[in-house]
Amino acid sequence: MISEKFSKIQPSETLAINAKAKELKEKGLKVINFSVGEPDFNSPENVKQATINAVKEDFTRYTAADGIKELREKISEKLKKDNSLDYSSEQIVVSNGAKQVLYNALMVLCNKGNEIIIPAPFWVSYTAMAHLCETKPVITSNESLKITPEEFENSITPKTKVLLLNSPSNPTGLMYSKKELESLAEIAVKKKVFVLSDEVYEKIVFDEKHYSIASFNDQIKNLTITVNGVSKAYSMTGYRIGYSASNSEIAKALKKIQSHSTGSACSFSQKAALTAITSDETTLKKQVQEFKKRRDFIASELKNTKIKFISPQGAFYYFFNLKEITKDDVKFCSDLLEKKFVALVPGKPFGMQGYARMSYACSLEEIKEGLKRIKEFIE
Ligand SMILES: Cc1ncc(COP(=O)(O)O)c(C=O)c1O
Repeated sequence: MISEKFSKIQPSETLAINAKAKELKEKGLKVINFSVGEPDFNSPENVKQATINAVKEDFTRYTAADGIKELREKISEKLKKDNSLDYSSEQIVVSNGAKQVLYNALMVLCNKGNEIIIPAPFWVSYTAMAHLCETKPVITSNESLKITPEEFENSITPKTKVLLLNSPSNPTGLMYSKKELESLAEIAVKKKVFVLSDEVYEKIVFDEKHYSIASFNDQIKNLTITVNGVSKAYSMTGYRIGYSASNSEIAKALKKIQSHSTGSACSFSQKAALTAITSDETTLKKQVQEFKKRRDFIASELKNTKIKFISPQGAFYYFFNLKEITKDDVKFCSDLLEKKFVALVPGKPFGMQGYARMSYACSLEEIKEGLKRIKEFIE
């Protein structure tokens, strides 16, 4: 028999939608897939070249469990420059994607029965990870789609260990302002709750400045694990490189757990990540402009429809409020896919019913066609 903790994990509904969309595509139907969670751009040429060079130079062996020193040093510089965070290279741990960082962090921080506060809507893996670590996810939810300081404070019990924050957010594209983060930080410090700050969409922001919660003062810094990676900013999802910055005790624990589970992240991916984070950001800025153009186009197309939304400030997602159209977002998305061949992900797996997520990591032509079909469908 499989374990009790594993039996609480649901299969990923995002992957299920994606699989169904692919199946229809293979049948020759013109499917518009708005369900993907990765940029539609290719990895940068200099990153690809760095990978090839590393392999040719036989940089293909195990590395230190926490990653090569050169990369950790450059991450430390990046955190100083972009995030006003002061961490030594020993406080950085490089992992197999931000996903592994998040999982390891929960393993390191939590005991069985601890509670993890997860604001809805949330990225689907957060609750699954909480269950795998034998903790209880405590979900908060309101129409603003962000946790308020009051909600945070009221959700804290003696069992609370971690607040999971994600800004810019998957699935909403919303960001927490400096003021909002300061209020949350104050409560975390007062109540001694750790903050797992998932900042993987940090570089894809349109109007507002991104703030790292750990940057406000030493007390919140000591309680925060900042999580980031190269997947989203540099279109390197397959390279599997993420990293954490934390206090030294947590960093040592993260290194230890990784040394026994997967070992280091891929050697030549680390070299590629080094190139990515030290390159100039001209291409990245162009891609962000492209995402912004798509975001604005979608807003103008949907403004007089029954689909409501809060304009996203980052990432590449819209989180549509469908409550004027339906109560059953799962049925809505499955009918939309079957009748109009457009794939959206229902809100339910993100912890909020009556919503659906649209990823606009696809061409403007596909967006135009997809929105036309969605409008026909809701009429
Ligand atoms: C909010 C969020 N965090 C973490 C990840 C994982 O990123 P990585 O590819 O670095 O594992 C994703 C990927 O979809 C994400 O959306």
